[in-house]
Amino acid sequence: MHAGGRLDAFSPLSIGLSTRGADVQLALQQLSNPHYLVSGMSGSGKSHLIRNIIARLNRRGLTSHIIELHPDMSHADFVSAGCGDHVSPDDFNYLNFDYVDGDASVNILQFNPNAESGGVYMAIQDVLDVARLFNPSLGSRQVTYLQKLLEYTYSRKGISHNDPTTWVDHSNPRNPTGHHPNLHDLLDSLVEVRRAVASGLGGDVFAEVEKLRRQVKKSKRTIDSGVLDEEDEADKTDDLMKRFEVLKETVCATLHREIFGDGDSEPFYQGWKTDTLDSLADTIRSMVESSLFTRGVDDPQLVKGPRKGKINVYRLSNLSYVHQKTMIHILLTRIYNASMRMCKQLNPETPDTYLVLDEGRYAKEAAKNPMSPLNVIMGGSRKFGLGAIIGVQGPEQISNDMAQNFATKFILACAEAGYADAKKYFNLPPARMKKITPKKDALVSINSDPFELVRLFPREYRSVA
Ligand SMILES: Nc1ncnc2c1ncn2[C@@H]1O[C@H](COP(=O)(O)OP(=O)(O)OP(=O)(O)O)[C@@H](O)[C@H]1O
Ligand SMILES: [Mg+2]
Repeated sequence: MHAGGRLDAFSPLSIGLSTRGADVQLALQQLSNPHYLVSGMSGSGKSHLIRNIIARLNRRGLTSHIIELHPDMSHADFVSAGCGDHVSPDDFNYLNFDYVDGDASVNILQFNPNAESGGVYMAIQDVLDVARLFNPSLGSRQVTYLQKLLEYTYSRKGISHNDPTTWVDHSNPRNPTGHHPNLHDLLDSLVEVRRAVASGLGGDVFAEVEKLRRQVKKSKRTIDSGVLDEEDEADKTDDLMKRFEVLKETVCATLHREIFGDGDSEPFYQGWKTDTLDSLADTIRSMVESSLFTRGVDDPQLVKGPRKGKINVYRLSNLSYVHQKTMIHILLTRIYNASMRMCKQLNPETPDTYLVLDEGRYAKEAAKNPMSPLNVIMGGSRKFGLGAIIGVQGPEQISNDMAQNFATKFILACAEAGYADAKKYFNLPPARMKKITPKKDALVSINSDPFELVRLFPREYRSVA
């Protein structure tokens, strides 16, 4: 239950005192957009401020999604930030992304079956983006192979871009996209195609036959020499028989296609190179091994998902930098798509969901080009009721596309070296910047009004919601 009780979603949120001693409020439904910029040097109090805002938004029944890159957004951190009167432990839903003992994951092949979300085509583009982030050295040929393999993987599951009825499994109302493929299925397709490519009747099949013949000969010699015990001998024979069966199947399938198949239609992997497929397989395998995308694919009950009305904390602090970047991209895209899908009313007066990204380096990374997820959110999520709270160490960490879209700005203390940027980006002269006490106040502009110095959430505001 909410500590202190639930408030109305529209009730204005008191953020502190002006220099004249007046109460400064965020009138949530009057803001022209729901995006907040929080800018300040390290230790100026950004995370502290964000906790105080999120705790109070939660009191209003709103959902938050916090992307946590340092372990600093737990209930205990909220209590240390003086928010203990507003949140209790069960207002939090932690999603642990961890290689070893995580309890969350995202199946990147599973897509939103809404017509506006772009169906299989967009799902494939998203997976390609994720694969490129996960392995930045992925070549263009590998990306082309991956695209074709994804198309094949969806089609094997009976899912076709051109037939949206196949995107939803109506026989399974509890999990209507449970039939969507996952990375294991993609790997199965790749292995199957690799086998066909390696032993295609184009000549390689004879090389495979020759290879197996040589191996049989060698194994016979080893067995005859008597160095193996009975068990090893049986294993070796078994292994060779298995490979024989596989080769036999491939030859049969290839012959069947050649003889009975439509002579004109070449398989989509015609002319593919095994080396390229092998290096692509390495990338997909390392994605599988990270467990970030496959945990719980067989039993979705075992993994956690975001929950409505909660402070959802996506814990990424134990991941490598590259994996953090990749996960941020995925989470931003999914949170945006979910807001689009769940939105009951377009252009709501006030958002019902907030997203927090409290780390400028990553915000910059997630807003590199106009179609990057953060730019898309900043430009379009207001109408679906999704607001963004972005913490940065200086304005240079915000993209131009983003800069236009913050109706509310909190400028916390910065070093003198940052004064030129404060002037350039916010038109705040050094004399005003000097007045900001770190960990105490901020120059605040609400709904693009002139900046005003505000003592943020002072002690006497602890229980003020
Ligand atoms: N208004 C405040 N009142 C009391 N303590 C504060 C206030 N603001 C910040 N602090 C304390 O100062 C310390 C630094 O604050 P915080 O972690 O929020 O900084 P930050 O701007 O997020 O830094 P970084 O960029 O390194 O993440 C914390 O221990 C926090 O509890
Ligand atoms: Mg911080």
